[in-house]
Amino acid sequence: MIRIKNAVEIEKMRKAGRLASQLLDHIEPYVKEGVTTLYLNDLCSVFTKMHGAVSAPLNYRGFPKSICTSINNVVCHGIPSEKDVLAKGDIVNIDVTVILNGFHGDTSRTFIVGDTDIKTENFVKRTEIAMYRGISAIMPGKYLYEVGKTIEKYIGKFGYSIVRDYTGHGIGKNFHEDPQVFHHFTKENKIRLRKGMIFTVEPMINMGSSYRVKTSRSDGWTVTTTDGSLSAQFEHTILVTDDGTEILTKT
Ligand code: MF3
Ligand code: CO
Ligand code: CO
Repeated sequence: MIRIKNAVEIEKMRKAGRLASQLLDHIEPYVKEGVTTLYLNDLCSVFTKMHGAVSAPLNYRGFPKSICTSINNVVCHGIPSEKDVLAKGDIVNIDVTVILNGFHGDTSRTFIVGDTDIKTENFVKRTEIAMYRGISAIMPGKYLYEVGKTIEKYIGKFGYSIVRDYTGHGIGKNFHEDPQVFHHFTKENKIRLRKGMIFTVEPMINMGSSYRVKTSRSDGWTVTTTDGSLSAQFEHTILVTDDGTEILTKT
């Protein structure tokens, strides 16, 4: 069941979304060579509390930290750790979700540590473009599968692959609610878009030709590519409006 949000709920989602975006802005300057992902986690935790909000990932289904930090071949759900020291040329996705006055704002970006080769740079840039193209396909009256169709059409030409096992999701009072938002084309998403729906668009793109992923057996969370290739992701929380979308996770 997809919940349509009313004006009061939408205003609360705007505030939560803005805070999540501000949180990523806040930590961006610290995403540097030599910094541990645990340090980034702790900065996020402090900033979130300072703003009267709660870190949604912490203790969510047993997740042990406040944010997800996914480096290089890690697709998503990387656990911040003192052992993970960022190195020049790494790519790292930082995924933050805050709960403010009972409502969730969920956003992520992939950062390049220092600089990297042009192939990787292009890969990360194209992943961000894929997210924005997916968002642009959203229009009330159209089907949700236009998101995946549009991303697939764009990503296909580079030889990259679109992760299928993790999707975007409805969001509001709950972290994850209906619908599932696929980033590849599937008839499962033959769902009519309506004004007032709020969900995330968060494509995970693998640089290699395999969309396959696996979950760590030791920590139960860390998802990696099966072929060892790099994976990048960007995420926004969006509202369906009269004439398209409003991105809620913007500053
Ligand atoms: N923020 C992730 C998403 O975009 C979910 C993380 S769940 C956690 O849906 F438990 F790993 F934090
Ligand atoms: Co997220
Ligand atoms: Co999400």
